[in-house]
Amino acid sequence: MATALKVLAEEASTCTSCGLAVGRTTVVFGAGSFAADLMFVGEGPGAREDEQGVPFVGRSGQLLDRLLTEELGIDRTDCYITNVVKCRPPENRDPRPDEIAACRPYLEQQVKLVDPAVIVTLGNFSSKLLLETDVGITKLRGRSYRFGDPERHLVPTFHPAAALRGGADVLARMRADLVRAKVLMGDR
Ligand code: URA
Repeated sequence: MATALKVLAEEASTCTSCGLAVGRTTVVFGAGSFAADLMFVGEGPGAREDEQGVPFVGRSGQLLDRLLTEELGIDRTDCYITNVVKCRPPENRDPRPDEIAACRPYLEQQVKLVDPAVIVTLGNFSSKLLLETDVGITKLRGRSYRFGDPERHLVPTFHPAAALRGGADVLARMRADLVRAKVLMGDR
């Protein structure tokens, strides 16, 4: 599947399917192991990610890295990390429905090709998109969901930026969600 993912990333690198193409520096397709049991899906690249072409390398990413080590005992090369939209929205605004829809086939292919046992959705955008719901993350999180065919586990949690803003309580709940994901990894 590694070859197919590389081909897809190559294709995405010149994508002009939505308006975000105009303002981006780099398409931030995804990073990590192509055969990971665990996949993280964030919202969209920020300034740092857009510069470097790598997801979650800014402040949110540093927190994510720390949580990976502390709660899961892994680092980012042991999982696969991507976003709902692969190009940076200007001024870090929320991605729009048409941009999310245009990028969705890439995410669907990434899930299919990496074939993780567990997907952790970080924040509202990825959680709502994959669970096809309007329910917000505060209500969605705290449990796992069956997702897709073949079936996998989906664990919604807060976006690390929310934990950076929200303090100890949000962070504690995020940690609990990651422990939930870890337990589920042995049980597809
Ligand atoms: N926030 C995201 O949702 N994704 C990134 O890659 C970085 C910050």
